[in-house]
This record gives sequence, structure tokens and C-alpha cells, in this order.
Amino acid sequence: MDKIVEGKLDKPAKRKPRSETRGERVPPQGEGGFDVNWYPVCLSNDVRAGEVKGMDFLDGRVVVFRGENGVVTVMSAYCRHFGADLGVGGKVMGNELQCPYHHWRYGQDGACKHIPIGGAIPKNARQFVFPTIEKWGLIFAFNGLEPTYQLPEFPIPADKLMYRTFGTLKFKLDIGLQITNSVDFQHLIILHGLDIEKYPNVEFHENGMRQTGGMAWRDNMRGGGAKSVIEAQIVGSNFLVFGGDLAGINAYAVVVGTPITKEGCTYGYTIMAMPRFPESAGGAAATNTALGALERWSHALMVEDDQPIMDNISFRMDNVLHHDRYVAQMFRFLQNYPRAHPSAEYIRK
Ligand code: FES
Ligand SMILES: [Fe+2]
Repeated sequence: MDKIVEGKLDKPAKRKPRSETRGERVPPQGEGGFDVNWYPVCLSNDVRAGEVKGMDFLDGRVVVFRGENGVVTVMSAYCRHFGADLGVGGKVMGNELQCPYHHWRYGQDGACKHIPIGGAIPKNARQFVFPTIEKWGLIFAFNGLEPTYQLPEFPIPADKLMYRTFGTLKFKLDIGLQITNSVDFQHLIILHGLDIEKYPNVEFHENGMRQTGGMAWRDNMRGGGAKSVIEAQIVGSNFLVFGGDLAGINAYAVVVGTPITKEGCTYGYTIMAMPRFPESAGGAAATNTALGALERWSHALMVEDDQPIMDNISFRMDNVLHHDRYVAQMFRFLQNYPRAHPSAEYIRK
């Protein structure tokens, strides 16, 4: 029998249809290509003149080799003869890389230059070569035929700039989603314990995001209430650059990552930079110590606070508050960011 409550028949409530999803997502890297970005492949020190190193990159395998002329090349790993991996037993001969199997040799432009058994060199005997740049002790390769933007710069004169680069951190989440952190003011307050005194203006544009006007905070959790005033920007979809006055020190940082779909992870690198202290304040040695302290601070935020969450998150815009509006904008930015994979046929196993 139907139950009577306050004189009314207690009919089963009409259920609202459930929403189809728990919110919008950004497609995983590799779906429709990879974001068109400069990606760090390895540290410069990992590949000295005359050396070659095989690396996972995007959803395949590349080699990084440095000729005797000091020029570094990032190219597809599988030989255009029978597909041997040039990163396993390949040898740098002058400025060319020799395949371990039948000793075909490839130049820094990717073209086969020499076949020891003789005969004409097939015109398709050419490796895929990525646009490559070295900066801050890292070797970057561009996922695309032509670079579409330049690497960011620190606002420090070159003759004063000191930096420390560290990696390789392994994350499970795409770097673009991780650096939504920079506009997730809710998490800066709640997770990192920052007391934000002033919010910046946030603007997304075709090639990233820029904060202006300065964000001021006090670090009550780790910094004993020290005040910082910084500006942040996102360049491409994988560089977070921030800095300014960090607890009384003029310093900057870059966080940058590379998708390695094969292992379902992202390799992350951080670069800390500041102008060298004058000799009266300890010079290079004191600057290095300060950079080390910054490195530990950023490690605490990124690895101790963020990583356990980011490695396990099922990231989506589900219930979005007014406070989250810039994260939602960043989601749209990432959803619309151009993707490509011109090297796919060359680097996949
Ligand atoms: S597989 Fe590389 S030379 Fe034959
Ligand atoms: Fe964070």
C-alpha cells in the first residue's frame, strides 16, 4: 500500500536522467597525434661528442647522437634498411651514425651517406630528423615539421644568468593537465597552504597563457609566512614558466614535460634560474646554494604534494566552481591545442 505522508501520496519521485558522463576530458596524448610542442628528450650531458643514446619519445623510439662537430641530432631509431635500432650498438663515426647491423651510415640530416656493401643508395634511405635545440642543459625536439613557437626566455641578462636543471621525473599524467596547477588557485590555497593576497589577471592566447599584474602570496605551510610576488605563463601546452620575487629572491623556474605513451607516462624536467649574486653576497657559490633551496621547495610542492594526486587522478571538469574558471579555460585550451605526429611511421616499432 502507498504510504501517506502529510496528507499526500508519497509517489516515487521522478528521477532526473543521469548525465551521460562525469564531465569533459582532454583526450590522452597520442589520440589524434601529440601536442605540437618543443619536448625535452634528454639532458645535454647524457650525450657527449661521439656518443649515441636511444630514448622513448612520443609513442616510439628515437636516437640522440652528437657528432664530433658537437652538433646534436634527434632522429628516428629504426634503420631504413631492415629496421635495426640505431640506439643499440649504433656508432658515431665523425658526424654520422652507423647502424649496428649492416653498417649503413646516416648523416645529421638523416640521409643515408654510405652503404659498405656497395651499390646505389636508395632515395628513401632517410631517417626522420626532428627540429632540435639545446638550451638550459636539455636537448629539445619539436613534434612537427617546423617549429611554431620559440622556447621561453628568463628575464635575466645572459651574462648574469645561473641555472640548475634537474630531471628526469616520471609522472603518469600528461604535462598539460599537470600545469593546470598554475591557474588552479583553489589547490594553491588548500593543498599547498598558500595564502593568496592578490590574484593575477589570466589570459589564454593561441600559444599559451599569460598572467599579468602579479600574484602575491604568503607561504604559511613551508615558508614561515614569507611573501612572494610572481607572474606565470604557459608556453605551448607543456612549459610552465613562473618567477619574480620568490620569498625575497629574484628567481624563475620552468617546468616542462614530454609524453612517453609507451610507458603511459610523462618525463618531467625543472629548470631553476636566478641572476648570479654579486661577489659581496657570495657570488656563484651562494647563488648555487640558493638555487638548491629553490629546487627543494619546488620538489616539495610538485612531488610531495601534487604527484600522488596527479598520478592517480581521472582528470575531468565535473562540478566546476567560479573559483575553477581558469582551470576550465585551460581545459578548453588543451582540447583545442593542435596535435600532429609526422614521425609516427618512422619511430613506432
Ligand atoms: S638494418 Fe641497418 S644497415 Fe641493415
Ligand atoms: Fe601544485
